[in-house]
Order: sequence, then structure tokens, then C-alpha cells
Amino acid sequence: MSNKKLRIPFGTVLITEKSKKLVNEVLNSNRVSGGKHVREFEKRYARLIGTKEAVAVSSGTDADALALAVLHDLGAKRNDEIIVPSLSFVATGNAVLQAGFIPIFVDIDRCTLNIAPEKIEQAITEKTRAIMPVHLMGKPAEMDTINSIAKKHKLFVIEDAAEAHGAVYKGKNVGTFGHMAAFSLYVAHMITTVEGGIIVTDNPEFAEILRSLRSHGRACKCESCVLNINSGYCHKRFQYDEDTDIRFVFERIGYSCKMNEIEACIGLGNLDTYSEILMKRRHNLKYMTERFRKFSPYLVTIEAGPDEEIGPHAFPIILQEGVNFTRNDFSNYLESNGIDTRTLFSSMPTQCSGFKFLGYKLGDFPNAEYIGNNAIHIGIHQDIENEHMDYILNIIEGFIRKNA
Ligand SMILES: Cc1ncc(COP(=O)(O)O)c(C=O)c1O
Repeated sequence: MSNKKLRIPFGTVLITEKSKKLVNEVLNSNRVSGGKHVREFEKRYARLIGTKEAVAVSSGTDADALALAVLHDLGAKRNDEIIVPSLSFVATGNAVLQAGFIPIFVDIDRCTLNIAPEKIEQAITEKTRAIMPVHLMGKPAEMDTINSIAKKHKLFVIEDAAEAHGAVYKGKNVGTFGHMAAFSLYVAHMITTVEGGIIVTDNPEFAEILRSLRSHGRACKCESCVLNINSGYCHKRFQYDEDTDIRFVFERIGYSCKMNEIEACIGLGNLDTYSEILMKRRHNLKYMTERFRKFSPYLVTIEAGPDEEIGPHAFPIILQEGVNFTRNDFSNYLESNGIDTRTLFSSMPTQCSGFKFLGYKLGDFPNAEYIGNNAIHIGIHQDIENEHMDYILNIIEGFIRKNA
């Protein structure tokens, strides 16, 4: 192994030639706000995940919030409760509040980084409406247990699959287990529209509500009416006075978070390269995970269970308890050797000050807080080659030799 210093970025973004061509066509046309490319992107995304419907929006956070906001049409009240893991990117907790609900946090399992299924039931009250598991770092949450708890207590399940493109649980894609699932399409993710998000569901009624929600709560956003809107036709037309302009009827409190044609064109190009990228990332994850096990007295990562495939989003590294070095020592060493690092997320209720008003205190979520203090993640993306991974492993080995 050479001692040559390499540069390993956390992520890279691919804008394909097809995307560029489509973007140019759209820019030269009259239609850049949501239209046929968004619809095509939605249809292809739904097919890819294996759901009947997909609704594209401006971000993964909006996707989370809109999926939750659908519950208002299904009888939920403001300030009802949604169960979420205490460890996630803050967007999960923010989205619950943005949708008008209260997040009820449940600690995670330190080995999976996901919500601890055995702690969910004790958090359920008569105000609970849904469980929102997060497939953190693309590792599937324990969906069988979560769905059976939800069924027993008549709760909805909304998957936060923002980081879980390509994750498989018991032979099915993540995103097909809940009533709805939200993916992020931000540049850091395996399928990107630069900024964007998408909700998938098998329920056409939910999809129709989602289309209304993303457009200010407009009366009707079902597919045939959207396509016919300029002719004034709408299947709900008969519910209103004859001279009502259906485009200006707002039936629910909505958002403004539509995807535009330019974003959809970037996404359409990326869908073509997705399976190749997924294969490469799966190879990278396997390569790193197998070689990482030797560090287990000091450092660990997450691993796929027997019935799972991790969607390779990034490579988390967790310091073992009692090691002689700090997270900063470790990440500074990697950074000084050209390896980009990011701290892993924190316990939203106790380590992110925005959630302070909810009244939780440090110590309430020991596992999430441990990760919040002792974990980082590094890239595992498609532009990382075996040579780069050997370099990373070599640098880590050198660090342990010096510091452990
Ligand atoms: C778990 C999780 N949920 C939600 C989001 C929000 O996605 P976005 O950044 O597209 O708003 C992210 C972002 O990556 C995330 O990691």
C-alpha cells in the first residue's frame, strides 16, 4: 500500500448527459413548473420502489411533512402524537412539528441505529396517530414488529426512507411497508433531483390528498384533473357552484412544495444510472464492512441482518465505549489525511436545542446521545474505488496503532 495521500470526498453528484439534454429542452419550452416530466419521474419512481403511486415534492423534509399532514384528512387533530426515533437527521422531528403534530421520541438500538421496537409500545397514548420509523444510513428499521404494533393499536405507519434508496427488508424494497414512505432526493442521496423529495404509497386516495397538499390544499389534484385543469374540467366540479373557478378552491391547509420540470429532468437522467450506482455502492459497502470488523475492539459500524440489504447511503463509524481517544481525535486524523468526515446525527430531543421546548432532559435517550457524541460517517459512494477503501482502512489502522 503506497503512502500517497488521497482525497476521499464525502459525496459526489452525477448530472447525466440525458439530464442535461432534458433540462435544455425544458428551458427552451414554455413549461418549467411541474408538468409531464414530473409525472414521468413519479411514475418511474413508483415502479422502481414497487408502489402504485408516487408524489414528487421540493425536499425530503416536505415529503415527511406532507405524508404526516395527510393524517388530518383521516381524523387526526392538531397536537396529536407521532412516534419517531430520537436519533435521526433533525428533518424527521421538524417535519412532525411542521405538520402540526407532537413528536414523541423513542430511544434507538445502538447496534442498528434505528428505533428500538421494544420501547415503542410504552410511548403510545390515546393521542398517538402514527409511528414514523427512520431507516437510518439505509439500514431497514424492524418493520415486521413496527407494523404489528401499529396494527394492534390502529396506528398509521409512515416510513422516513430519506436515506434508504436501495434498502431491502425481507425481499421487499423499503418504502413499501408503511401506509406511505418519504424519500429525499437531495444531492447527498443515491437518486437526486438536486433538491427534492418524493412520497410513495399504494393508496390512490392518499396520493390525491398529497397532490392537493403540495399545491396549497387546492380542491383537486387528481391526475386526470391536473392534466385537464386548463380546460376547467374537474371531477369535483359538480360539488361547487357552476361559476366557481376550481383552481381557486382550497379544501385543506396546504403547503407550497411542488417539484419543477428542471428537477424532474435531472431525476429522470439519474434513474437511468441508478442500478449501476446501487451495485457499485453495494460492492463498496460489503468491501468496507468485511474489512472493518478487525477494528471492533475500538470502532464498529452497522451490519445488515440476514433478511436485509442496506441501502448504501454512507458508512457510519461508532467509537466503542472506553477507547483512549475522542471522536474529534479520530475525525481530525481522517480529515488531515484527506478523508472527509461528518459527525453522525444527534439525539433530536436532548442534543438539538430547537427541541428544548418539548421538555426532555439529557439522559432520557442514552443510546441516541451516545451516538450523538461518539459517531461519524464517511462516504461510500460510487466514485470510491477499492484503492480508496484500502487507503481509508490503512489510515484507520495507523490511527489505532498510535492511539489505542
Ligand atoms: C432521515 C432523514 N429524513 C429527512 C431528511 C430530509 O431530506 P431533505 O434534506 O431532502 O429535506 C433527511 C435528509 O437527508 C434525512 O436524512
